[in-house]
Amino acid sequence: MDYLVISGGKRLRGKVEISGAKNAALPIMAGVLLCEGEVTLRNVPDLMDVRTMEHLLNKLGVASRREADGTLKFRVEDEMNCHADYELVRRMRASVCVMGPMLAKRGRAQVSMPGGCAIGDRPINLHLSGMANLGADVDLVSGDVVLKAKRLTGTEIFLGGPFGSSVTATVNVMMAAVLAEGRTIIESAACEPEVADVANFLNACGARISGQGSPRITIEGVKQLKGCDYTVIPDRIEAGTFIMAGAITNGEVRITNCRLEHLLAVVDRLRRIGVNIERDGEDILVSSSRRLDPVEVTSQPYPGFPTDLQAQIMALLCLADGNSIITEKIYPDRFMHVAELNRLGAKLHKEGPTVIVEGVKKLIGAPVMASDLRASAALVLAGLVAKGETRINRVYHIDRGYEKFERKLQNLGADIERRSDASGE
Ligand code: EPZ
Repeated sequence: MDYLVISGGKRLRGKVEISGAKNAALPIMAGVLLCEGEVTLRNVPDLMDVRTMEHLLNKLGVASRREADGTLKFRVEDEMNCHADYELVRRMRASVCVMGPMLAKRGRAQVSMPGGCAIGDRPINLHLSGMANLGADVDLVSGDVVLKAKRLTGTEIFLGGPFGSSVTATVNVMMAAVLAEGRTIIESAACEPEVADVANFLNACGARISGQGSPRITIEGVKQLKGCDYTVIPDRIEAGTFIMAGAITNGEVRITNCRLEHLLAVVDRLRRIGVNIERDGEDILVSSSRRLDPVEVTSQPYPGFPTDLQAQIMALLCLADGNSIITEKIYPDRFMHVAELNRLGAKLHKEGPTVIVEGVKKLIGAPVMASDLRASAALVLAGLVAKGETRINRVYHIDRGYEKFERKLQNLGADIERRSDASGE
């Protein structure tokens, strides 16, 4: 098993280029199932999750090839197999996004119910009620959801859940509606930039979608989608992670290939605690040269503060000059990183969906365990500033969602390296 070893104390300096957005690339790849003709995708990050989605598409009859510059090309060749099985879905929840396109294009879909994961339950009731609203028959058979529909019919669908909108439910229902008869309106749709990117990809293939990025998305059904050549947006979560890496090390970092407008809630909180964040053309310049102030952070659906950066800002606030309060409104159990950060000398007190972060003067390196993708990134941030050596086990979590993570950090001056350990830990 690979692990990371970090010697803390280096201030990050230099330039880092952000990769394509994982959470846009994955559903867009699923959208290939709707298309007749070749699809070319550019700026797709080379991640474990992308390779898992590619493998799933191959099993569903899609031919794929990866070109030298990272461009991916796809073509649907066989529509017989419509089963996304447990082995693949349990590894990656985003597999559920093949449901809508397969149902719309093939008239049937069989997808394993995703299990839970480190950040909490991952229900798909909103996905299924959306498909049923469009006219699908939905059954649960031995842990799989089986959906059938000769032809889907457009309708009005309210997609709000107990935690607000759902990103992949919005994407799944939108993709199912693209080939439906007539107009579909999705009310309480997720507004994330990744949802808009999927809609823009589908429109490039001939779909008729409007309102993407707003809580109301309208889809006029069309007869078929052709292929297209599409470039995925930059990853705002990776960008936010590197902004915080520059801040936590009191460094000076230039971040290229990112969209500041996708991170306004994050920039608001970071400026409030004393991080200097400036736009320089298309780049973001980050610097910090002092102990940061405490702040209150609550994760919300976009445009609110993203839950995928909650663990990372918690790591940053461990060293603030005072007490901060972090409340998780999307996944109330998304706190596996709390105990690990406390092992590094943080003073975190969890009260239900809220964590009180008592600022400390320093963190001390230690062995810690990664539990999920974003918690792992938070532990790396803490390791960059902790005194001494931090060892982060189960680094495969990071490989799922961050492209060349330790190499990008090394290029910024971090003392971080990947090692292999036969222990299997
Ligand atoms: C997407 O997951 C992202 N994943 C997650 O990123 C991200 O944390 C999440 O959105 C929230 O922003 C991808 O896009 C592949 P949701 P998703 O449906 O779509 C509840 C990462 O680290 N809900 O928006 O699965 C759900 O329990 C990953 O890159 C229902 O109740 O999240 C949660 O509390 C982690 N019923 C809330 O809604 C449903 O049918 C938001 O979940 C669906 C969701």
